[in-house]
Amino acid sequence: MRIDPPPRISPPAAPAGAAGAAGPALEVEGRASLRTFNTFGLPAFAQTLVHVRNVADVRRVVDHPSYGRSAKFILGGGSNVVLTRDVNAVVLKIEIMGRRVVEERPDAWVVEAGAGENWHDFVAWTLDQGCPGLENLALIPGTVGAAPVQNIGAYGVELKDRFESLDAVDLVTGRVVTLDAAACRFGYRDSLFKRHLAGKSVITQVRLRLPRPWVPVLGYLELERKRAETGMTHPDARTIFDWVCSIRRAKLPDPAAIGNAGSFFKNPVVSAEQCRDIIGRDPEIVHYPLPDGTVKLAAGWLIDACGWKGKTVGRAGVYEKQALVLVNRGGAHGSEVVTLARAIQESVYGRFGIRLEPEPVIV
Ligand code: EPU
Repeated sequence: MRIDPPPRISPPAAPAGAAGAAGPALEVEGRASLRTFNTFGLPAFAQTLVHVRNVADVRRVVDHPSYGRSAKFILGGGSNVVLTRDVNAVVLKIEIMGRRVVEERPDAWVVEAGAGENWHDFVAWTLDQGCPGLENLALIPGTVGAAPVQNIGAYGVELKDRFESLDAVDLVTGRVVTLDAAACRFGYRDSLFKRHLAGKSVITQVRLRLPRPWVPVLGYLELERKRAETGMTHPDARTIFDWVCSIRRAKLPDPAAIGNAGSFFKNPVVSAEQCRDIIGRDPEIVHYPLPDGTVKLAAGWLIDACGWKGKTVGRAGVYEKQALVLVNRGGAHGSEVVTLARAIQESVYGRFGIRLEPEPVIV
């Protein structure tokens, strides 16, 4: 596959977002509403919100006489956060743009994007450039910079499977570091950025490695179903992209229409013995044995089995088509979402003895 015309480079020119120290001053807002900056649509204010458009802006924050020493809260697309109160930490709204094909190697295409780019638009753009490999991750809400933080995954592909490296700026020293996959310590919906580096480091650029030749990932049941329905035994990347979009649209709410943060809980992993015990009582339980002998259980199934699907508590609810997704029924406060989440955790624990762990960060 060739890349012709040459890859488009959106401004700023390569490397994306790496503007010099000179330039316009920081753009700062006081008492800024975060309602439209979180996909749940929860009401909260930032005392101070800084629009971060490039590396130089991050350095200006680090060197700032007051923001430099303050706690920081890094906000991407707001698709993995539950805001229960106003944020006193300095909110860094990451708006670093730009995307480019960095390298076309015999074994892979390497693509790069600024952390503020919309993830789904980036996936679509890579396909337009003739670089397949991210199609299974279509329509995941959020930004490119947030993708490694929680190691996003769907339909048999995780970000870590396509990861090359990222650049991040240390919020104490202002130093730029480049981290590879091992350094990011990716886990299931987890990375160093959710732990040790939370609030301490800003991801500015992400590079992904898309293996050549392209091999489709079709093992996931719903994709197999699409293959059987359409009779397309060898779908191309664009077709898989379209299938993933239609599967997601059929069962996940569009955050633009119904506030939500995707899966609210992680799928719990239990020992084989614990799983056998549960199967003894609930033979229908949806479970996936993992290579290390443990078993992943479908949290959506557990919640559904406890009768939560479609239920509403206050102004928060459980989505009708997928019990793993909590939604804002309109005007909900973050505390209502948390109250509902706790009630679900208690009932799943009561029936199955399993503690569900939330996926989004609760502030
Ligand atoms: N199920 C039910 N009832 C429900 C929901 C699910 O019985 O209300 C059953 C389904 O029938 C299915 C099983 O549970 O057999 C698993 O459901 P599904 O295939 O929808 O996937 P999931 O485990 O709920 C995970 C990811 C999603 C990702 C899909 C597809 C997590 C926490 N979630 O969901 O990621 O899109 O697989 O790969 O791992 C996200 O992280 O925000 C997200 C949407």
